[in-house]
Amino acid sequence: MKKILKISAIIIAVLLGIILTVVLYVNFAPMPEHTVVPLPIQVSYDSSAVNQGRKIVETVCYTCHKGADERLSGAMFSKPESGLGEIWSANITNHSSLGIGAYRHGELAHMLRTGINRKGRFIGPFMLFPNMSDQDLAAVIAYLRSDSPITRPSDISNPKPSYSLIGKALFKLGVFKPLEIPTSTINAPAPSDTLAYGKYLATSVFACYECHSRSFETNDVLIPENSEGYFAGGNPIEDRNFEIVISANLTPSKEHGIGSWSKDDFKRAIRQGIRPNQELLSDVMPRFSLLSDQEVNAIWTYLESLPASEPNLAAAK
Ligand code: HEC
Ligand code: HEC
Repeated sequence: MKKILKISAIIIAVLLGIILTVVLYVNFAPMPEHTVVPLPIQVSYDSSAVNQGRKIVETVCYTCHKGADERLSGAMFSKPESGLGEIWSANITNHSSLGIGAYRHGELAHMLRTGINRKGRFIGPFMLFPNMSDQDLAAVIAYLRSDSPITRPSDISNPKPSYSLIGKALFKLGVFKPLEIPTSTINAPAPSDTLAYGKYLATSVFACYECHSRSFETNDVLIPENSEGYFAGGNPIEDRNFEIVISANLTPSKEHGIGSWSKDDFKRAIRQGIRPNQELLSDVMPRFSLLSDQEVNAIWTYLESLPASEPNLAAAK
């Protein structure tokens, strides 16, 4: 009996030792460092490229990077008491030291593809654009470099991330890790191929699926259609006041999705944020007012082609 107690005590001591070592490692080891490999990218400043970039930046990037001065100066992204700890989106205005003024085009392209910033830090899986075409990525960079009311240098400086123990563990134990650099050029489908183009816009560019599938945690950023509950909504998302809003089911289900909507209903909802019953959508849902008729039609055609799905569980809560 005594012997068994002794052995149990040793096993418990060893286990505690292992746990303590992991906790100390997670807490004190430096964050992983990554190599910055500037990617070859041709940035054109012609007006069609800058306008295309504006469309993407003002709808996608601005959602998270809109700061107190209404520029792309960054805001609190995750609260100190949240699971990950306190994280602010960055100042990505043209400020030379506080913003992205010092980035070279290739470094920015590398950041947007892999998530590794100019200093070699992986900033997390919150904003990755692995399937956006090279041309659209170049357009984003062209607009970020342009002199517009939201890209003008802002001298707002945001706090560095202060991760919780869980946040640190996710980075240091490699659960959160950068994406690979693409090995070939990435092209968008032709707009005349409405279905493929609609899918490209709804996934790779405007990331509708990210909010409109079950949860950010189960999304598949490389192959979006493998995300759990793809486009069936139910993802609980925080608005700018950190109040939870549940994303909508966008499949053609008549009961749960947008199956009984007309194309015009859809247009009005995504451009102006107004439902057919006149309700205003939460501001978590970006206003896609800059999208052309062709783009909205393509997204609509793609959503109509999806199987009608039951809503995801979170929505039912
Ligand atoms: C879902 C929210 C979200 C979206 C959408 C988003 N970002 Fe970010 N971005 C962040 C957060 C959060 C950080 C900073 C995290 C940190 O510093 O740890 C960040 C950091 C960055 C950085 C790194 C700055 C640096 O040097 O550390 C760049 C560049 C950037 N974003 C550009 C963009 C662009 C361009 C877009 C649109 C194509 C975009 N982001 C869309 C949340 C977002
Ligand atoms: C940042 C997250 C986010 C992104 C990105 C996003 N949405 Fe939404 N969307 C939401 C949320 C949350 C709601 C529910 C708002 C509410 O209940 O007030 C919503 C509501 C909607 C609705 C209304 C549906 C209904 O039944 O009322 C439509 C239509 C819609 N989104 C389409 C889109 C499309 C198309 C895209 C991409 C072009 C998109 N959304 C991108 C978060 C997002």
